[in-house]
Amino acid sequence: GPPFPVFTRKEVARHNSQASRVWVTYGSDVFDITDFVEAHPGGKSKILLAAGGALEPFWALYAMHKQEHVLEILRGYKVGEL
Ligand code: HEM
Repeated sequence: GPPFPVFTRKEVARHNSQASRVWVTYGSDVFDITDFVEAHPGGKSKILLAAGGALEPFWALYAMHKQEHVLEILRGYKVGEL
């Protein structure tokens, strides 16, 4: 497929609420997870803590995310790269 668009961390940081859409990064990939926020098994308030930034600091604490079925959900929301 075509290459993904490239974004800066500053651009990602603007997408930090449901009103502005919720973007996060994981590694060098950028995801628009707005449509997943309400479905998050860990609740909306928790997932929104990562809005506009990196998932790594949170997933270091909640390591149950580092399994294939979670990463597969995330991949479905990829919109770009850093
Ligand atoms: C649970 C996805 C971000 C906190 C889960 C589960 C999924 C998921 C699929 C269920 C896992 C399982 O039981 O096997 C995601 C995705 C995220 C995200 C796709 C980002 C795009 C976060 C963040 C936090 C968080 C940033 C914390 C700040 C939790 C907690 C649970 C959970 C506490 C456990 C809920 C429970 O079992 O009671 N998440 N999550 N998640 N998540 Fe997330």
